[in-house]
Amino acid sequence: MAQSDRDGFTSAFGVLVATLGSAVGLGNIWKFPSLTGANGGAGFLLLYLASTVLVGLPVMIVETMLGRTARANAVTSFETVAPDGQWWWKGIGWMGFAASLFILAFYSEVAGWVYAYIFKAMSGEIATVDPKVAGRAFDGLVSDPVGSLTWQWVVLVLCGGIIMFGVSKGIEAVTRKLVPLLFILLLVLCGRSLTLPGATQGLAFLFSPDFSKITPVVIMTALGLAFFKLSLGMGTMLTYGSYFPDDQNIPATTTRVMLADLSVSLLAGIAIFPAVFAFGFEPAAGPSLVFMIIPAVFTSMPGGTVFMTIFFLLTAIASIGAMLSLLEVPVAVLCERYGMKRGTASLCTILAIALLGLPAALSHSAAAHLTLFGLNAFDLYDFLSSNVLMPVGGILICLFVGWVYGLPELERHLSNNGDLRNRPLIRGVFLLVRYIAPLSIAVILLNGLKLL
Ligand code: PFF
Repeated sequence: MAQSDRDGFTSAFGVLVATLGSAVGLGNIWKFPSLTGANGGAGFLLLYLASTVLVGLPVMIVETMLGRTARANAVTSFETVAPDGQWWWKGIGWMGFAASLFILAFYSEVAGWVYAYIFKAMSGEIATVDPKVAGRAFDGLVSDPVGSLTWQWVVLVLCGGIIMFGVSKGIEAVTRKLVPLLFILLLVLCGRSLTLPGATQGLAFLFSPDFSKITPVVIMTALGLAFFKLSLGMGTMLTYGSYFPDDQNIPATTTRVMLADLSVSLLAGIAIFPAVFAFGFEPAAGPSLVFMIIPAVFTSMPGGTVFMTIFFLLTAIASIGAMLSLLEVPVAVLCERYGMKRGTASLCTILAIALLGLPAALSHSAAAHLTLFGLNAFDLYDFLSSNVLMPVGGILICLFVGWVYGLPELERHLSNNGDLRNRPLIRGVFLLVRYIAPLSIAVILLNGLKLL
């Protein structure tokens, strides 16, 4: 397809909100607090910060750069930038294709719970500060097969409907409105949580490290979270990069996205942990944490029902930006490689996810007994994508850029053909992706999988 025919982001702000919309999502509000809670708090937070800055950011920079250079979907991009005859690099794109489907299969389920909570919040059903009552409401939802599936499908139809409109009229138009709104609401929530009686205990948990909790699995989880948060190693950032304008300053944009995304996670942590301690919840409660804490925080404040409803509405909305970016990976491959119309490609992708999502949606009810390596479908998809496919994709991208693509090309493309004076920075990125990032990802991955 000629470049001029290809859809893309239309402004620097559009690039920023769409990319941030991909990074910010349930990962910040659901995964980050529950993983931080389950893995001991501040020590985990430090590991996550280090993984984000030393590994996540360099990978994000080179991944978006590859996409913008090739101006194609995840698979074709590797065909375009790899040297002649080295066809195998496109396997990274196919791995990303698979990873995006696996992530969507469980992500859409959690998003479905959030949607259901919008209505539960409105009806007052979850207006409680009692952990037991909150727990029962959440269990009732996830163990109901019909409810779980219906909500998952609602989410899929909605996102599929948006993705059909394309990159500028679908993804960019929607994220422009939603991303700023999310920031405002999180600030309101933090304000409330910080003024609760037990706030300092929660902040201490989040900010004073206990290194005794750190194990190889915890380190792998922190790295996996860094990849998941920044949507890396699976062609999402590459696909989005392919829609960046030619003069976009990639290192600056990606750094901004990383910082904004970290702030959202920290704000979510600040909103949630003080409340966890104030209301006597268990910080290690896992994925259900958010679904119990948030109602308690809002129930305890004036106008709680309204705020609670708005919060779940906005979390639902935040999940949309991330899901759009996940959907764009397979949709772009289907359109550009198989000549499918955008509508057909979106429909096929949604149907595939609905099928793959069945065991995940039922993993707390009818399909609870279906386990592999002791994990149900929901946890298996999550583990496989965040802890295996994304880091492996990340290593391969680093090896490709560090050892095949090379410094001169990297300099040319990241400096926009010499327009940007950022050579020392590019050299730093190159060293990180050539040595530090692939080595540390490999060691952490093998260790975490008990293979080392
Ligand atoms: N970054 C998103 C979040 O934190 O919720 C999740 C995600 C989106 C992961 C896109 C991977 C991806 F390709």
